[in-house]
Amino acid sequence: MKQLFPLQIVAELPRASDQNYRSVMANDQLTYLYKPWDKKNQASSIEYLCYALAGICGIRTPNYNAICDINDHSLFGFGSEYKDEVNGIKNLAIPRIKRIARAYCASQFLSELRVLDLFLHNTDRHPKNLLIAPQGKNDLLWAIDFADSLFHSGSPIGTGLPGGNTDSFYTTIFNEEKLRFDAVSAMVVLQKISAITTTTIKDIVANYSSWRTPELASLIDSWDLIKNERIKQIRQSLWNDKNAEILLFPHKIPARPVKR
Ligand SMILES: Nc1ncnc2c1ncn2[C@@H]1O[C@H](COP(=O)(O)OP(=O)(O)O)[C@@H](O)[C@H]1O
Ligand SMILES: [Mg+2]
Repeated sequence: MKQLFPLQIVAELPRASDQNYRSVMANDQLTYLYKPWDKKNQASSIEYLCYALAGICGIRTPNYNAICDINDHSLFGFGSEYKDEVNGIKNLAIPRIKRIARAYCASQFLSELRVLDLFLHNTDRHPKNLLIAPQGKNDLLWAIDFADSLFHSGSPIGTGLPGGNTDSFYTTIFNEEKLRFDAVSAMVVLQKISAITTTTIKDIVANYSSWRTPELASLIDSWDLIKNERIKQIRQSLWNDKNAEILLFPHKIPARPVKR
C-alpha cells in the first residue's frame, strides 16, 4: 500500500526558539521544524505547493514535506528540514542584509528567487525569510517561508505583483547593496514556470485531498490563464518584452551586415 505521508515523527526534540514550531525528528533521522495542519490556517499546505514549485525552478530550499505522527496517523502537519545557521549569524558582525548579498552566488540565487516570489505573489520576503547556512568557506542561501503567497488574502493570485516586505527587500539588495540582477538566470526560471502544467499542479497536491480547499481548486482550474497573465506582467516589470526576447533567443538576433 502506498504510504500517505512520506515521513513520520519518531521523536520530539526541545522546542525551537520560534514558538510557532515544534522541533521533531522524522524517520529519515533528520530534524524538522513542524507545524500541525490546521484547517483554519491553510498556510502550511499552500507552502507545500510553493516549496514544490521552488524545487521545479531549481531554487534552493530546505526539504519541506508532510509528516504524520507515528501514534496517530490522522494527525499530520508540514515540516521543513532544520538548517543550522548558528555559526556567526546570531551575533552578526555584519548586518544580515550584507551577509546575504555576499553569500555564495547571491546574485544568481536572489535573481531567480525574485522571479518566483513575483510569480507566487509572495509579500513577505524579508531578510529573515532566507536562511544563511555556512558550508565550508561559503554562506549558502536557502529560501524559506512562503506562507504569505498565492491565495494568502483569500483569493487565488490573479492580477498585480506583490509589494510589501518583498518589494523593499529586493530594492535594498539590488539597489543599495549594489547586487547585480542576473537577468539570464531569472529568465530561465520564468521559462521553467511557463512549462508547469495543470497536471503538474494536480500531481503535487494529489496525495493531500484533505486540504483541497475551494481556493486551491479554483487555482488549479484557471492555472494556465493565471500563469500566462502573471508571466506577462513579470516580463513587463523586470524587462521590457523586447529585451526578454533577446535574452531568451539570442540566436534570433539578426547578425549585423559585415562592412566591406
Ligand atoms: N528549516 C529551518 N531551519 C532553520 N531555521 C528555520 C527553518 N524554518 C524556519 N526557521 C526559523 O524560524 C523562523 C520562522 O519561520 P518561518 O518559516 O519564517 O515562519 P513564520 O511564518 O512564523 O515567519 C525563521 O525566520 C527562521 O529563523
Ligand atoms: Mg517568516
